[in-house]
Amino acid sequence: MSTHQITMFVNGEPEILTVQGHRTLLQVLREQLAITGTKDGCSAGECGACTVLMDGEPVNSCMVLAVECDGHEITTVEGLADDGQLSALQAAFVEHNAVQCGFCTPGMLISAHALLQRNPSPSEQEIREALVGNLCRCTGYLRIIKAIQTAAKKGEA
Ligand code: FES
Ligand code: FES
Repeated sequence: MSTHQITMFVNGEPEILTVQGHRTLLQVLREQLAITGTKDGCSAGECGACTVLMDGEPVNSCMVLAVECDGHEITTVEGLADDGQLSALQAAFVEHNAVQCGFCTPGMLISAHALLQRNPSPSEQEIREALVGNLCRCTGYLRIIKAIQTAAKKGEA
């Protein structure tokens, strides 16, 4: 089985890792780095629970091999908070009760954060389109959309 030494930057910290060629970014984040905010909902690119940013773009980390991340910047949900303080987006999710079981929430937050970074004033349709790859079985999406609109009004992601 092939192994590779890689360096990736996770939430701003360099991580030098030895990874097996078949291991996904999701597996390495959760099992090697113990960064467990990113969830494994389906392992098949269907649910979006594993969404992280790779060089600022949302990706399903279950569909990215860890070796592909050599030299790249990865941001997980843990990277959205600032020194333990929730971001405006995270606080808006709490304010609007946009979390029930919470399993989809890290991926939702990452996709919404990426949207607000590229489009600070999205329409409801644009929010819905940005979340098209993120499935929630609990909230019905309306509270999530309201939370993102609230964060957008505050001008913060
Ligand atoms: S766990 Fe990656 S898309 Fe579902
Ligand atoms: S809050 Fe349960 S899946 Fe979204």
